[in-house]
Amino acid sequence: MTADWRDILRSTPMRLTLRLVALFLVISLLTFAATWWLANKTLLDAAEDTLDVELDELSASGDPKGIADAVAAISNKTDPENLILRYDGTHGIVGNYDGALPGEGLREFDPDDPADHLSDRYILKSRDVPGGQLTVGESADAFDELREVFGQVLSFTLLPTVLLVLAAGLLSARRAARRLGAIEATLDRLRGGDLSARLPDLPGPADDLSRVGIGIDRLAEAQQSSTEALRQVSADIAHDLKTPIQRLAVQLAQTRDELPEGVASQALDRAEAEVAGIVSTFQSLLSIAQIEGGSPRARFQPVDLSALVTTMAELYEPAAEEGSHRLSVVVLSRSAVLGDRALLGQVIANLIENALRHTPPGSAVLLTVDGPRLTVADTGPGIPPDERDKVLRRLYRLDRSRSTPGSGLGLSLVEAVVKLHGGKLDLQENAPGLRVVITLPTT
Ligand SMILES: Nc1ncnc2c1ncn2[C@@H]1O[C@H](COP(=O)(O)OP(=O)(O)OP(=O)(O)O)[C@@H](O)[C@H]1O
Ligand SMILES: [Mg+2]
Repeated sequence: MTADWRDILRSTPMRLTLRLVALFLVISLLTFAATWWLANKTLLDAAEDTLDVELDELSASGDPKGIADAVAAISNKTDPENLILRYDGTHGIVGNYDGALPGEGLREFDPDDPADHLSDRYILKSRDVPGGQLTVGESADAFDELREVFGQVLSFTLLPTVLLVLAAGLLSARRAARRLGAIEATLDRLRGGDLSARLPDLPGPADDLSRVGIGIDRLAEAQQSSTEALRQVSADIAHDLKTPIQRLAVQLAQTRDELPEGVASQALDRAEAEVAGIVSTFQSLLSIAQIEGGSPRARFQPVDLSALVTTMAELYEPAAEEGSHRLSVVVLSRSAVLGDRALLGQVIANLIENALRHTPPGSAVLLTVDGPRLTVADTGPGIPPDERDKVLRRLYRLDRSRSTPGSGLGLSLVEAVVKLHGGKLDLQENAPGLRVVITLPTT
């Protein structure tokens, strides 16, 4: 689940969304900052104009007494919370505020310890007038309100927009992830050799991913039909050559019969053995082709794997003894698998034969059944990791096995049967030796 979300966050749509959100945030914040600055400046200019008019009126008389009288008259009627009036003249301070004042000109002023009748902040302007300094200050409440309004606009527009865009991004990323998941699953099946795998119908309207999907389906179709054709050709060849080769075998046998006793040459013996090998190779090729054709699944029935393995091991006991191999079976747990008993028996036979044939005398061969999992392990030379895929190919044998009998088809047949059953085949290191692990589906 967490991995899913990490994938979604790393997906292209989500990255695009995050980039878009970041860009949107930067642009919005810049716009807000510019607007804020402009509004602030306009308010400040307007406040200065008002303060200038106020200062002009109060200092109109032009003499200190007149100014002090004008300030006293108005400040008597004015609440310092809205408007501060003050004249610092030769005879002291006149006005409705006598606390500390900041410097010259127009400025914002924050009374240090605002008494109850003062606002939090003021816009102040001082001017030198006859007899001293005249100061008028307007409450800055309007600025604070502006700030509040901006804060609200920010949280009511910016935040929901960001959340909405993020949600939309997440949704499209999840949709894309589902489509990609379907494509990946199909590719996996194709890679695993199931050339009939096709993409399921992808939900939602067609997009670039569905075009990729269509491409994959076409590719799989082409691959499937050419593999099918190849398979057909090799099956046909095997089939067509089988009869003449069998006739050749019969003719060799007849020739031997017609010759007087003891005259059959060694060459004839070798030819007969060769032909017998060819017949069995063709036989195997044909059965692999038949199994890969996906033939008799309908014949599948519950098979007791452990009983089958025990029977096969008993059958090979004499051969094992002949080659001084120790063959043993261990059943850890029993379960019935669904399959074709004869084909599964062939698989076990091929694996035991390999273990007996490709390991030196004295090696141990252990068959372990654990539920639907069969392991055939030997203590021979094993198969190097980079050869483990190749030995599954038809007719492929390791160089060192060239002198042993066999045609390199045993493991191909094992793989074909395991695939037919929907199981898994794994060649592993047994340190030393080879361990073949087959897992079959249970009933
Ligand atoms: N148990 C094993 N230990 C070592 N090498 C093995 C083992 N099993 C198979 N091999 C190697 O893999 C090759 C392919 O095996 P495969 O069973 O397909 O063919 P084969 O045994 O040579 O002939 P056959 O068609 O008679 O089975 C073998 O030739 C051998 O080199
Ligand atoms: Mg073999």
